[in-house]
Amino acid sequence: MLFATLPLLFAATALASPLHQHSSLYKRACATGPDTAADFVKYTGYSTPALNAVTPPGYTNAYTNLQASSNADGYGGFSVLSTYDVAGCAAQCTSRANCNAFNIFYERAPAAANSNCTSSATIKCVFWTGAVTPANAKNTGSTQNNFQIVIAGSNGYVASAIAPSAGYAMPVYLSNNAVQAPLDCNGKDTYLGFQTFNATFDASRCAAACSAQAAYALAHPPSDGSKPKTCQFFNTYVESKNGVAQDQKCVLYSQTWGKSVATNTGYAYGQDVYSVGMSYAYSNATDAGVCTKA
Ligand SMILES: *[C@@H]1O[C@H](CO)[C@@H](O)[C@H](O)[C@H]1NC(C)=O
Ligand SMILES: *[C@@H]1O[C@H](CO)[C@@H](O)[C@H](O)[C@H]1NC(C)=O
Ligand SMILES: *[C@@H]1O[C@H](CO)[C@@H](O)[C@H](O)[C@H]1NC(C)=O
Repeated sequence: MLFATLPLLFAATALASPLHQHSSLYKRACATGPDTAADFVKYTGYSTPALNAVTPPGYTNAYTNLQASSNADGYGGFSVLSTYDVAGCAAQCTSRANCNAFNIFYERAPAAANSNCTSSATIKCVFWTGAVTPANAKNTGSTQNNFQIVIAGSNGYVASAIAPSAGYAMPVYLSNNAVQAPLDCNGKDTYLGFQTFNATFDASRCAAACSAQAAYALAHPPSDGSKPKTCQFFNTYVESKNGVAQDQKCVLYSQTWGKSVATNTGYAYGQDVYSVGMSYAYSNATDAGVCTKA
């Protein structure tokens, strides 16, 4: 029971401004009107705090006020909040290992026994390692024991460390695997080298490196008249030596590769074991570098 109550206590102490938060209390005034699933999703008491939420420092807003929750990669559990406290949800994500995204929303729940309502709401803060995106916010609810569970006021946030730079798509989470790219459709290598950074993990460094490589390649085309090989995709991850994080790698490619070729978990060198962690893949949003047969 102690563990079950801890997140709530944490949320209560993490309130940025308790008075302001008070205006978004989750109890509906349902005694005066109908209380259906349709009423729940259009209730302005849920949409208003979602629309007015301030994006917490260190995070990027992925979507606002959807009527669906995310099913992203790398589920990290959830906590129940007593108010729609985006800052508190962010603080919990930040304090957890491997939390790089969160989703906060109102979920329709059966009412308490002595209530005049037919429904109540649970405010959930769900933690993910992979990015929450509009594309994976597809869970609109379900029906359980004849009770319709629906979602309202769903906001998604992605840690700035993994948020895509302008011109790049939301990352694909590859867990503890790095891309091991095969040759392209013409039997050519798409690998363009790597860069190492020894500071706090930040995917935007790799985006800058990728875009810089592409600009350089275009400015210095091959003398044989062939098409320059430009960076359209990168894989970034934390490399660890014997379990201790060493640095951030940015591996650049001319073509986008998917999860199916993310098979490189590391290597052994002498007595030392090098491993991959927190691996994410980013594609150029307008040109994924799809191979066309020559
Ligand atoms: C339920 O409604 C009745 C009649 O309107 C009222 O007397 C009672 O206080 C209400 N109960 C709750 C828990 O709101
Ligand atoms: C994405 O690729 C296109 C086509 O190669 C290029 O013009 C554009 O600059 C790239 N975007 C970024 C952010 O590098
Ligand atoms: C990066 O920093 C870590 C710890 O400070 C150190 O052990 C490691 O050798 C450094 N890596 C590089 C490539 O400089």
